[in-house]
Amino acid sequence: MAEERLYTDHPALYDAIQSGWDYDRDIEFVVDRLTRHDIGGRRLLEVGCGTGEHTRRFHKRGFDVTAIDAYEGMLSVAREKLEREEGSETGSGAGSVEFRRDTLPRLDLDRQYDVAVAIRGVINHVSPDALLPTIRGLADALADGGLLVFDNSPLPPDGNRPGLDVGETADGRYVRVARHVPREDGRLDWRSVTFTTDGEPFVSSRPMTPFADATMYDALVDAGFDIETADGYGPGDDRTVFVAVAPG
Ligand SMILES: C[S@@+](CC[C@H](N)C(=O)[O-])C[C@H]1O[C@@H](n2cnc3c(N)ncnc32)[C@H](O)[C@@H]1O
Repeated sequence: MAEERLYTDHPALYDAIQSGWDYDRDIEFVVDRLTRHDIGGRRLLEVGCGTGEHTRRFHKRGFDVTAIDAYEGMLSVAREKLEREEGSETGSGAGSVEFRRDTLPRLDLDRQYDVAVAIRGVINHVSPDALLPTIRGLADALADGGLLVFDNSPLPPDGNRPGLDVGETADGRYVRVARHVPREDGRLDWRSVTFTTDGEPFVSSRPMTPFADATMYDALVDAGFDIETADGYGPGDDRTVFVAVAPG
């Protein structure tokens, strides 16, 4: 079976594939929900930070960020971006950032946070059995009344047909064919073959879980959260976003 390669070996390609994503909109969503819930604290836990696009924006907005990801490949790009930005004239952020490698469902944390985020399908990477421990762990990571924001990626539960994606990285063109293949355990195997300009095609595979919104909702109830949902982080985004207040 192929392994996950995009996150481990090709984080720059991840950024190219995701280059159309509106990261600023997501930040505005989180900041708006903190204001609505009258949460002024700046301690922010970001789980599944990837290549750090949200991280550096939260940093600029004055948050003290602990940014966690399961893959060192993604973290190394995130660190480089932040260092570049810190060195630039426009890059000064008011907050602090600590990058850490760790893996859901159980995070090794030594403090509590005012807000925890897991943006863009991060929770869909955990297995069905790991959902409740994940949500409980995030509840433990939050101070009383802290805010949890995460989303449910709209994955096709029955799989889909291969899709083609052609784009550009700094090194040139890539072509990717990808599809979700249903597994017997109800999860999906996300499989892809990517050709890059350096000539070496690579195969990648990653299990994902197509959770029902109700399953995520129930896990939040079980962990004692008060819950609201939103249709996406903003216009054009059709995923369900959960905004949940930790038990106080
Ligand atoms: C779809 S990406 C989203 C990254 C980032 N939040 C963004 O919006 O660009 C999912 C991220 O979750 C990370 N991830 C996957 N499984 C994880 C786990 N069990 N614990 C922590 N991070 C995980 C991946 O390495 C990847 O960076």
